[in-house]
Amino acid sequence: YSTQTYQNILVSRPDPSVTLITLNRPKALNALNSALFHELNAAAKEADEDDAVGAIVLTGSDKAFAAGADIKEMKDKEFARAYKENFLGHWTELTRVKKPIIAAVSGYALGGGAELAMMCDIILASGTANFGQPEINLGVIPGAGGTQRLTRALGKSLSMELNLTGRNLSAQEAAQHGLVSRVVEGNVVDEAVKVAVTIAKKGRVASQAAKEAVNAAFELPLNEGLRIERRLFQSMFATKDQKEGMAAFAEKRKPNWSHE
Ligand code: CAA
Repeated sequence: YSTQTYQNILVSRPDPSVTLITLNRPKALNALNSALFHELNAAAKEADEDDAVGAIVLTGSDKAFAAGADIKEMKDKEFARAYKENFLGHWTELTRVKKPIIAAVSGYALGGGAELAMMCDIILASGTANFGQPEINLGVIPGAGGTQRLTRALGKSLSMELNLTGRNLSAQEAAQHGLVSRVVEGNVVDEAVKVAVTIAKKGRVASQAAKEAVNAAFELPLNEGLRIERRLFQSMFATKDQKEGMAAFAEKRKPNWSHE
Protein backbone atom coordinates (compact mmCIF):
# COMPACT_ATOMS: atom_id res chain seq x y z
CA TYR A 1 0.00 0.00 0.00
CA SER A 2 1.10 3.55 -0.55
CA THR A 3 -0.91 6.63 0.41
CA GLN A 4 -2.06 7.03 -3.20
CA THR A 5 -3.70 3.62 -3.34
CA TYR A 6 -5.98 4.00 -0.30
CA GLN A 7 -9.64 3.83 -1.28
CA ASN A 8 -11.30 3.86 2.13
CA ILE A 9 -9.16 6.13 4.29
CA LEU A 10 -7.46 9.52 4.01
CA VAL A 11 -4.01 10.01 5.46
CA SER A 12 -2.59 13.47 6.23
CA ARG A 13 -0.02 15.25 8.40
CA PRO A 14 -1.73 18.12 10.28
CA ASP A 15 1.62 18.58 12.03
CA PRO A 16 5.00 17.15 10.95
CA SER A 17 4.93 14.96 14.08
CA VAL A 18 1.35 13.64 13.71
CA THR A 19 -0.30 11.26 11.24
CA LEU A 20 -4.06 11.78 10.91
CA ILE A 21 -6.01 8.82 9.55
CA THR A 22 -9.61 9.59 8.53
CA LEU A 23 -12.00 6.74 7.82
CA ASN A 24 -13.63 7.64 4.54
CA ARG A 25 -16.61 5.55 3.45
CA PRO A 26 -19.20 8.30 3.97
CA LYS A 27 -21.98 6.50 2.10
CA ALA A 28 -21.72 3.53 4.44
CA LEU A 29 -21.16 5.57 7.63
CA ASN A 30 -17.57 4.24 7.63
CA ALA A 31 -18.67 0.62 7.99
CA LEU A 32 -15.48 -1.34 8.49
CA ASN A 33 -15.07 -3.71 5.59
CA SER A 34 -12.03 -5.86 5.11
CA ALA A 35 -10.36 -3.54 2.58
CA LEU A 36 -10.73 -0.56 4.90
CA PHE A 37 -9.18 -2.38 7.83
CA HIS A 38 -6.22 -3.59 5.75
CA GLU A 39 -5.63 0.00 4.66
CA LEU A 40 -5.94 1.24 8.24
CA ASN A 41 -3.41 -1.34 9.42
CA ALA A 42 -1.02 -0.39 6.62
CA ALA A 43 -1.30 3.35 7.29
CA ALA A 44 -0.84 2.88 11.03
CA LYS A 45 2.20 0.65 10.45
CA GLU A 46 3.69 3.24 8.10
CA ALA A 47 3.23 5.95 10.76
CA ASP A 48 4.69 3.64 13.41
CA GLU A 49 7.84 3.18 11.32
CA ASP A 50 8.23 6.88 10.46
CA ASP A 51 10.79 8.52 12.78
CA ALA A 52 9.23 11.94 12.27
CA VAL A 53 5.88 10.80 13.68
CA GLY A 54 5.28 10.75 17.43
CA ALA A 55 1.56 10.00 17.62
CA ILE A 56 -1.40 9.01 15.45
CA VAL A 57 -4.94 10.40 15.39
CA LEU A 58 -7.78 8.25 14.07
CA THR A 59 -11.13 9.79 13.20
CA GLY A 60 -14.24 9.40 11.06
CA SER A 61 -16.83 11.96 9.95
CA ASP A 62 -19.10 14.24 11.95
CA LYS A 63 -21.95 11.76 11.55
CA ALA A 64 -20.06 8.54 12.15
CA PHE A 65 -16.73 7.50 13.56
CA ALA A 66 -17.78 4.06 12.27
CA ALA A 67 -21.17 2.32 12.30
CA GLY A 68 -19.63 -1.10 12.82
CA ALA A 69 -18.27 -3.97 10.82
CA ASP A 70 -19.71 -4.05 7.31
CA ILE A 71 -22.94 -6.02 7.68
CA LYS A 72 -23.47 -6.36 3.94
CA GLU A 73 -20.00 -7.84 3.51
CA MET A 74 -20.46 -10.47 6.23
CA LYS A 75 -24.16 -11.34 6.03
CA ASP A 76 -23.64 -14.52 3.94
CA LYS A 77 -20.56 -15.74 5.76
CA GLU A 78 -20.51 -19.37 6.97
CA PHE A 79 -18.87 -20.60 10.17
CA ALA A 80 -16.26 -22.80 8.52
CA ARG A 81 -14.96 -19.96 6.37
CA ALA A 82 -15.06 -17.44 9.23
CA TYR A 83 -13.13 -19.87 11.42
CA LYS A 84 -10.57 -20.91 8.84
CA GLU A 85 -9.77 -17.34 7.81
CA ASN A 86 -9.88 -16.23 11.47
CA PHE A 87 -12.46 -13.59 10.58
CA LEU A 88 -11.65 -10.21 12.16
CA GLY A 89 -8.33 -11.60 13.42
CA HIS A 90 -6.49 -9.03 11.30
CA TRP A 91 -8.12 -6.22 13.30
CA THR A 92 -5.72 -6.95 16.18
CA GLU A 93 -2.77 -5.78 14.06
CA LEU A 94 -3.67 -2.24 15.06
CA THR A 95 -3.01 -3.07 18.71
CA ARG A 96 0.60 -3.91 17.83
CA VAL A 97 1.33 -0.30 16.87
CA LYS A 98 3.84 1.03 19.39
CA LYS A 99 3.11 4.75 19.06
CA PRO A 100 0.12 6.25 20.89
CA ILE A 101 -3.14 6.37 18.91
CA ILE A 102 -5.85 8.88 19.80
CA ALA A 103 -9.40 8.26 18.60
CA ALA A 104 -11.36 11.46 17.88
CA VAL A 105 -14.98 10.31 17.92
CA SER A 106 -18.02 12.17 16.58
CA GLY A 107 -21.38 10.57 15.87
CA TYR A 108 -21.90 6.82 15.74
CA ALA A 109 -19.26 4.53 17.20
CA LEU A 110 -21.26 1.32 17.08
CA GLY A 111 -20.30 -2.34 17.11
CA GLY A 112 -16.90 -2.60 15.44
CA GLY A 113 -16.73 1.21 15.49
CA ALA A 114 -16.84 1.26 19.30
CA GLU A 115 -14.41 -1.65 19.34
CA LEU A 116 -12.03 0.21 17.03
CA ALA A 117 -12.14 3.29 19.28
CA MET A 118 -11.37 1.06 22.27
CA MET A 119 -8.34 -0.40 20.46
CA CYS A 120 -6.89 3.13 20.53
CA ASP A 121 -5.02 4.51 23.55
CA ILE A 122 -7.03 7.65 24.25
CA ILE A 123 -10.61 8.36 23.18
CA LEU A 124 -11.74 11.99 22.89
CA ALA A 125 -15.43 12.47 22.16
CA SER A 126 -17.43 15.32 20.69
CA GLY A 127 -20.83 16.03 22.24
CA THR A 128 -22.52 14.06 19.44
CA ALA A 129 -20.53 10.87 19.96
CA ASN A 130 -22.45 7.77 20.93
CA PHE A 131 -21.19 4.32 21.65
CA GLY A 132 -22.93 0.98 21.59
CA GLN A 133 -22.76 -2.72 20.82
CA PRO A 134 -25.90 -3.34 18.73
CA GLU A 135 -24.74 -6.77 17.53
CA ILE A 136 -27.49 -8.38 19.61
CA ASN A 137 -30.00 -6.84 17.17
CA LEU A 138 -28.29 -8.73 14.33
CA GLY A 139 -28.40 -12.10 16.04
CA VAL A 140 -24.70 -12.06 16.94
CA ILE A 141 -22.34 -10.75 19.61
CA PRO A 142 -19.33 -8.40 19.33
CA GLY A 143 -16.23 -9.97 17.85
CA ALA A 144 -13.46 -7.44 18.41
CA GLY A 145 -13.51 -6.45 22.05
CA GLY A 146 -17.08 -5.30 22.71
CA THR A 147 -17.58 -7.81 25.50
CA GLN A 148 -14.01 -7.55 26.79
CA ARG A 149 -12.55 -4.03 26.51
CA LEU A 150 -15.97 -2.48 27.12
CA THR A 151 -16.41 -4.50 30.31
CA ARG A 152 -13.00 -3.40 31.58
CA ALA A 153 -13.88 0.21 30.78
CA LEU A 154 -17.44 0.30 32.12
CA GLY A 155 -17.71 -2.53 34.62
CA LYS A 156 -19.96 -5.56 34.36
CA SER A 157 -23.43 -4.12 34.83
CA LEU A 158 -23.29 -1.32 32.26
CA SER A 159 -21.39 -3.46 29.76
CA MET A 160 -24.01 -6.18 30.12
CA GLU A 161 -26.76 -3.61 29.65
CA LEU A 162 -25.23 -2.32 26.40
CA ASN A 163 -24.44 -5.81 25.08
CA LEU A 164 -27.82 -7.30 26.01
CA THR A 165 -30.16 -4.44 25.12
CA GLY A 166 -28.17 -2.85 22.27
CA ARG A 167 -28.80 0.64 23.68
CA ASN A 168 -26.25 3.36 23.02
CA LEU A 169 -24.24 5.42 25.48
CA SER A 170 -24.15 9.20 25.03
CA ALA A 171 -20.86 11.09 25.03
CA GLN A 172 -21.63 12.41 28.52
CA GLU A 173 -22.34 8.94 29.88
CA ALA A 174 -19.22 7.59 28.18
CA ALA A 175 -17.13 10.27 29.91
CA GLN A 176 -18.87 9.77 33.24
CA HIS A 177 -18.01 6.06 33.16
CA GLY A 178 -14.45 6.43 31.90
CA LEU A 179 -14.89 4.99 28.40
CA VAL A 180 -13.60 8.28 26.98
CA SER A 181 -11.20 10.63 28.70
CA ARG A 182 -13.40 13.67 28.07
CA VAL A 183 -16.02 15.37 25.92
CA VAL A 184 -14.48 18.14 23.81
CA GLU A 185 -16.46 21.38 23.36
CA GLY A 186 -14.90 22.56 20.06
CA ASN A 187 -13.60 20.51 17.14
CA VAL A 188 -12.65 17.09 18.46
CA VAL A 189 -10.15 16.38 15.69
CA ASP A 190 -8.29 19.65 16.30
CA GLU A 191 -8.17 18.84 20.01
CA ALA A 192 -6.94 15.30 19.33
CA VAL A 193 -4.19 16.68 17.08
CA LYS A 194 -3.18 19.07 19.89
CA VAL A 195 -2.94 16.17 22.32
CA ALA A 196 -0.98 14.18 19.71
CA VAL A 197 1.48 17.08 19.22
CA THR A 198 1.94 17.27 23.00
CA ILE A 199 2.70 13.55 23.11
CA ALA A 200 5.01 13.77 20.07
CA LYS A 201 7.11 16.39 21.88
CA LYS A 202 8.07 13.85 24.58
CA GLY A 203 10.86 11.33 24.27
CA ARG A 204 9.67 8.46 22.08
CA VAL A 205 11.32 5.69 24.06
CA ALA A 206 9.51 6.79 27.21
CA SER A 207 6.14 7.27 25.50
CA GLN A 208 6.38 3.83 23.92
CA ALA A 209 7.28 2.31 27.29
CA ALA A 210 4.42 4.16 28.99
CA LYS A 211 1.95 2.77 26.44
CA GLU A 212 3.35 -0.72 26.89
CA ALA A 213 3.15 -0.47 30.67
CA VAL A 214 -0.43 0.89 30.77
CA ASN A 215 -1.54 -1.82 28.35
CA ALA A 216 0.01 -4.43 30.65
CA ALA A 217 -2.60 -3.34 33.22
CA PHE A 218 -5.28 -4.80 30.95
CA GLU A 219 -3.57 -8.12 30.47
CA LEU A 220 -1.74 -9.06 33.65
CA PRO A 221 -2.47 -9.56 37.34
CA LEU A 222 -1.34 -6.61 39.46
CA ASN A 223 1.92 -8.13 40.71
CA GLU A 224 3.03 -9.00 37.15
CA GLY A 225 1.96 -5.60 35.86
CA LEU A 226 3.92 -3.88 38.62
CA ARG A 227 6.95 -6.03 37.80
CA ILE A 228 6.76 -5.04 34.10
CA GLU A 229 6.37 -1.40 35.07
CA ARG A 230 9.40 -1.52 37.37
CA ARG A 231 11.57 -3.28 34.78
CA LEU A 232 10.58 -0.80 32.08
CA PHE A 233 11.23 2.06 34.51
CA GLN A 234 14.66 0.64 35.34
CA SER A 235 15.43 0.19 31.64
CA MET A 236 14.81 3.90 31.08
CA PHE A 237 18.16 4.50 32.82
CA ALA A 238 19.85 2.99 29.77
CA THR A 239 18.47 5.78 27.54
CA LYS A 240 20.00 9.10 26.52
CA ASP A 241 16.61 10.70 27.05
CA GLN A 242 16.70 9.85 30.77
CA LYS A 243 20.13 11.47 31.15
CA GLU A 244 18.97 14.49 29.15
CA GLY A 245 15.61 14.81 30.90
CA MET A 246 17.02 14.73 34.40
CA ALA A 247 20.04 16.92 33.54
CA ALA A 248 17.71 19.48 31.96
CA PHE A 249 15.60 19.54 35.13
CA ALA A 250 18.66 20.06 37.33
CA GLU A 251 19.97 22.80 34.99
CA LYS A 252 16.55 24.50 34.82
CA ARG A 253 16.28 24.23 31.03
CA LYS A 254 14.06 22.43 28.53
CA PRO A 255 15.11 18.91 27.54
CA ASN A 256 16.22 18.22 23.98
CA TRP A 257 15.14 14.65 23.30
CA SER A 258 17.22 12.44 20.98
CA HIS A 259 14.61 9.64 21.20
CA GLU A 260 17.39 7.24 22.10
N1 CAA B 1 -22.56 -2.12 7.60
C1 CAA B 1 -22.89 -1.87 6.32
N2 CAA B 1 -23.54 -0.76 5.94
C2 CAA B 1 -23.90 0.11 6.89
C3 CAA B 1 -23.60 -0.08 8.23
C4 CAA B 1 -22.89 -1.27 8.59
N3 CAA B 1 -22.52 -1.53 9.86
N4 CAA B 1 -24.09 0.96 8.95
C5 CAA B 1 -24.68 1.78 8.06
N5 CAA B 1 -24.56 1.28 6.81
C6 CAA B 1 -25.07 1.87 5.56
C7 CAA B 1 -26.57 1.70 5.44
O1 CAA B 1 -26.88 0.41 4.99
C8 CAA B 1 -26.90 2.79 4.47
O2 CAA B 1 -26.57 2.35 3.18
P1 CAA B 1 -27.62 2.55 1.94
O3 CAA B 1 -27.70 4.07 1.79
O4 CAA B 1 -26.95 1.88 0.80
O5 CAA B 1 -28.90 1.95 2.38
C9 CAA B 1 -25.91 3.90 4.83
O6 CAA B 1 -24.86 3.26 5.55
C10 CAA B 1 -26.52 4.95 5.72
O7 CAA B 1 -27.09 4.30 6.86
P2 CAA B 1 -28.61 4.54 7.34
O8 CAA B 1 -29.47 4.91 6.19
O9 CAA B 1 -29.02 3.35 8.14
O10 CAA B 1 -28.40 5.83 8.27
P3 CAA B 1 -29.30 6.27 9.51
O11 CAA B 1 -28.82 7.62 9.88
O12 CAA B 1 -30.74 6.06 9.21
O13 CAA B 1 -28.93 5.23 10.69
C11 CAA B 1 -27.43 3.92 12.09
C12 CAA B 1 -27.65 5.22 11.26
C13 CAA B 1 -28.37 3.92 13.30
C14 CAA B 1 -25.99 3.91 12.56
C15 CAA B 1 -27.74 2.70 11.20
O14 CAA B 1 -27.03 2.82 9.97
C16 CAA B 1 -27.35 1.37 11.80
O15 CAA B 1 -28.05 0.87 12.67
N6 CAA B 1 -26.21 0.78 11.35
C17 CAA B 1 -25.77 -0.52 11.80
C18 CAA B 1 -25.14 -0.44 13.18
C19 CAA B 1 -24.72 -1.84 13.63
O16 CAA B 1 -25.52 -2.73 13.79
N7 CAA B 1 -23.40 -2.02 13.84
C20 CAA B 1 -22.86 -3.28 14.29
C21 CAA B 1 -22.35 -4.07 13.12
S1 CAA B 1 -21.86 -5.71 13.59
C22 CAA B 1 -20.28 -5.56 14.19
O17 CAA B 1 -19.73 -4.49 14.23
C23 CAA B 1 -19.64 -6.84 14.66
C24 CAA B 1 -18.37 -6.68 15.42
O18 CAA B 1 -18.33 -6.80 16.62
C25 CAA B 1 -17.12 -6.41 14.72
